[in-house]
Amino acid sequence: MTRVLLIGHGAREHAIAAALHRAGVSLVSRMVMRNPGIASLSETVSIGDLSDVEAIEGLSSIDYAVVGPEQPLSEGVADALESREIPCVGPRKAVARIETSKIFARELLSEVAPSAIPAYVVAHNASDVETAIVEIGLERIVVKPDGLTGGKGVRIFGEHLNNKEDVLAYAQQMIARDGGVVLEERLEGTEFTVQSFVDGRHVVPMPLVRDYKRAYDDDKGPNTGSMGSYSQADHGLDYLSKSDIESALSIMRAAIDGLRKRTGLEYKGILYGQFMKTSAGVKVIEFNARFGDPEAMNVLTIMKTSADDMFQSIIDGHVKTPQFDPLATVCVYVVPEGYPGAAVVRDAEIRVPDTMKSHLYYASVYERNGKVYTTGSRSIGILATGTTVADAREQAYEDVRRVGGRVRYRTDIAKGV
Ligand code: AMP
Ligand code: GLY
Repeated sequence: MTRVLLIGHGAREHAIAAALHRAGVSLVSRMVMRNPGIASLSETVSIGDLSDVEAIEGLSSIDYAVVGPEQPLSEGVADALESREIPCVGPRKAVARIETSKIFARELLSEVAPSAIPAYVVAHNASDVETAIVEIGLERIVVKPDGLTGGKGVRIFGEHLNNKEDVLAYAQQMIARDGGVVLEERLEGTEFTVQSFVDGRHVVPMPLVRDYKRAYDDDKGPNTGSMGSYSQADHGLDYLSKSDIESALSIMRAAIDGLRKRTGLEYKGILYGQFMKTSAGVKVIEFNARFGDPEAMNVLTIMKTSADDMFQSIIDGHVKTPQFDPLATVCVYVVPEGYPGAAVVRDAEIRVPDTMKSHLYYASVYERNGKVYTTGSRSIGILATGTTVADAREQAYEDVRRVGGRVRYRTDIAKGV
């Protein structure tokens, strides 16, 4: 039987685990915290640092690995595995930089797809920040940290930054952290996510997804890892034209080709493009080197093709074209009260119904004596399918309301779609 190492312990990894389980593989899961959903699908559970592959028992019997989150990719987990001859679905450190360094990503795109990015300046000191403010215009400034921030680092003038002093202070704080920071023009439009399977040369897209990053209804409040998402039964999004989708895909292909030329390495894994449809065309907000969270739940739940076949085809360098059920999906994240603030309610019990029509994916929770508890991060993804987005939405919220405990959720995911 094929033995697959799955690295990570969130709802995204629970969705990957469920897809691999359906494909009949034997799962070895490596987690920092025991996710009860992943554990129940795994042959072997190994608890510890996600990048410390040496500590995983029976490593030599693993056929290939799938890396869920970005942090271990940024630490070179794919390089470590491949040096032990374990192929990895997840790029090597040097090419994962498309996510792990926003400076690298903007510079790459300025070469391979210059019309797809906003005006930007890379700042290394206060005087560079002053220059950027003059070039871009204070009121249009977005400060984007170079390194990883769990989706919470971008700050926008007029929303999170109120005056020049705020911009200077935050930019300098990020320069002190990472050595540099991106200052760029604020784009206006509607966002969309394109996730794709990449075998080094080919980019094969999955159904498109819309996600909701802000903490509160009506897109108010700080950015979070995302509070929910939806996808349509036709796998497109009604606000996008065929040519918008084609533009996004050609930007992703240019990025993959550019990465190979720059580094000499093939990108093997999942490439996630976050785009914005603006009045001046499709622009790149960011790339991620992994499935989205929650977007993995939207696509993997309805993937008909075996996840094992898909992942093996990435490793072989001949990526397949997967089939997906013609179903709409809506995912609502249940989070602890207070998330994403300092007053987040940790270690509170969450009660989930024994059965529900929706799929339940555990995120950042832990199990003790048969009970499930919150941490400081998102707790549970509830994913419903339906023939329309409205049907899926109704089902998802029906089940979300049945989750007990000190939790909250956005009430407007996929509203009016
Ligand atoms: P990121 O961490 O790069 O995905 O950014 C988080 C969120 O910040 C995105 O989903 C956007 O809503 C917003 N954002 C990032 N860059 C820009 C930009 N240049 N213009 C407008 N919004 C942005
Ligand atoms: N949904 C946002 C992310 O996965 O980065």
